Order: sequence, then C-alpha cells, then structure tokens
Amino acid sequence: MELKIALLPGDGIGPEVMDQAVKVVNAVAERFGHKITYQEAKVGAAAIDATGLPYPDETHQVCLDADAILFGAIGDPKYDNDPKAKVRPEQGLLLMRKKLGLFSNVRPTFTFPSLLHKSPLKQERIEGTDLVFLRELTGGIYFGEPRGRNEQGTVAFDSCVYSVEEIERLARMGFEFSQKRRKLLTCVDKANVLATSRLWRETVQRLAPEYPDVKVEYEFVDAVAMRLVQWPKAYDVLITENLFGDILTDEASVISGSMGLMPSASLGTENKLFEPIHGSYPQAAGKNIANPLAMVLSAAMMFEYAFGLKEEAQVVSDAVNASLEEGVATEDIAEEGRSYSTSAVGDWLALKVLEKSEA
Ligand code: IPM
Ligand code: MN
Repeated sequence: MELKIALLPGDGIGPEVMDQAVKVVNAVAERFGHKITYQEAKVGAAAIDATGLPYPDETHQVCLDADAILFGAIGDPKYDNDPKAKVRPEQGLLLMRKKLGLFSNVRPTFTFPSLLHKSPLKQERIEGTDLVFLRELTGGIYFGEPRGRNEQGTVAFDSCVYSVEEIERLARMGFEFSQKRRKLLTCVDKANVLATSRLWRETVQRLAPEYPDVKVEYEFVDAVAMRLVQWPKAYDVLITENLFGDILTDEASVISGSMGLMPSASLGTENKLFEPIHGSYPQAAGKNIANPLAMVLSAAMMFEYAFGLKEEAQVVSDAVNASLEEGVATEDIAEEGRSYSTSAVGDWLALKVLEKSEA
C-alpha cells in the first residue's frame, strides 16, 4: 500500500518520541512491503517560534494532504506562567482538532501483564482491564460561546454547548465500538445537574433501540472517577463530553503503570490523527529518557484505524509487549538500574518488527 503520513512532532519530548515511531513505521513498511512518504510540519510552541502561529496554514495543508497524521505533543512552560500570553501552543491543538473535524478521541486503557507491579493500584484490581473512552473532542466547554470576561475583568465565564448532532455522531461511534467488543456502553454525564448532560442521556436513550445487542449504562462522572480506580474491569466502552473525557482519561492512563504508555486516535469523517495521551514533558526534553511506547502504540493504532492494516498493528503491539517482557524499557518503567534510552528502545522495537519477518 502507499501511505502518506503527516508528521507533527510538536514540542518537548514530541520530536524524540516521534523519531522512534518513525523507525518502527519504517520497519513495518519494510516487512510488509508498503511505500510510505512523510511530510513534516510544525505545531505548538515550535510553530509559534517559527511563524507566530500555533497551527499555521502550511501545517493544516500538510494534514489535509495526508492519509493519516502522527502527532507528538505540544506545550512549553514559557507560556504556562503568563496568563496574558496572546498565543499559546495549546490553541494549536484545539484549532487543529476543530479544523480537521476530529470529533472523537479514542483513548484505550489496558494493562501489560509484565508491568502490573508498576501500577499504583493493586494488581488484582487492574489485571485484565481493557476499556476505551470515546471522548467528544470538538464541542463542549472547550469551544462554547460566549466565553471571556465582563468589562471590568472581574467575572469570567465559559459555556458548555452541545447539539444533538454532535452527541449523536459520537454516541453512534460508541455503540459501534461496543458491538465489536464486549457490548457494554457507559454514558458518562452529570445529568442530575447539567442541561447538556440531559441532552446526552436523552440522545443515547433514543439511539439505544437501534443497537439491541449493546447493554447501555448511565453513570454520573463523579461516580465513574471513583469506580475507575476501584474496579476498572467494570467498563468496556465509555462515551463522554470533552472536559469530562479529558480528566477521566488522564486518570485512567495511570492504571497501566505509566502515562508514557497509552496511545490515542482522534477520528473525524475525513481526517485521522494519532497521538500519545501524555504531554510534552518539558523536563525531559532533549535528554533521551522519555518513554516512546505511547507514541509507537499510536502508530499501531494508525495502521489499524487509518489503513485497516490489523496485522501490521498487531506486529507493533507484539514488539512492544516483547520489549516489556525483556525489560527493554525507559526509566519510568524499568527495573532498578536497568533502563534504556528513548532511542535504544526505538532501535530495539524496529529490529524486533523486522526480525519476526525472518522467523
Ligand atoms: C489533551 C490535552 C489537551 C486537552 C490540552 C493540551 C489542550 O490535555 O489532549 O488531553 O485538554 O484536550
Ligand atoms: Mn488532557
């Protein structure tokens, strides 16, 4: 197959982890005989430094031209402590999601058998956890109007807004995911308080009869926050609005032992983007210590979700599992005194992908 991939490494550790994903993607291409072309573009602080804008038009064009987008991370502390900064790296991410129509953020949480002891939770609680959040990504309080301040600047407001159409397309994707999995869908909301949540619940209830094989549960977001760490195995597919999903998926990502492990896909009707759940981790930038696995697993999701290449995706996840079993790991998950650098893990994975083809 001919695959055209846009590379947006972004800020902080983004470029380092992206390099490892590219090594692995190249190894997959070699093994399966795919032809890959890459186009690289700037986003976030890297783009602001170069052009003044966090998501320049050139970058948008590169994304539109590609079959899939690999995204590293964005964010730079020099913008965080300046509440009056006019442009921020994060705006680039939000603008990109909106302009590319990436309405559904697929964020899985699963555990690795060889890493159970690294989780902050008890092994018996998390062993076998396999859930996926579908976080709505282009609506809600992140984008709703009006937002801002009153004239005196003494009152600030954000608006949470959802239309039936926005809820329905995300919910339908949730039902379809459930049908391919364990057929349990949890609608996460705060319908006891919020009008938007009541519209979510109403919409999901209306759609449910069309998917009779799926069991639907409705649960308040605060209760989900609690049950996620008590008994994550209770969940299969969870659908929720933008901000709830942002918070709950960070919470869920530590179940597996490190934030550096979980990948994600942001899907729209036309465009598909793949990025690790973690951020730009500026403290580690340039040190060759960041965990590249979330980025590499995001590339695996790309093979499956953007190109329908399940075997390729599986080969990448198998290589990642093998690296963990053999203790080839960065310091966040390595055993005492036995850690590998970011690039060493990437090299090892690429070799593993190729080595299997000879077996
Ligand atoms: C994420 C991030 C972003 C979000 C930030 C950087 C705007 O936290 O992808 O989860 O809140 O969506
Ligand atoms: Mn987040």
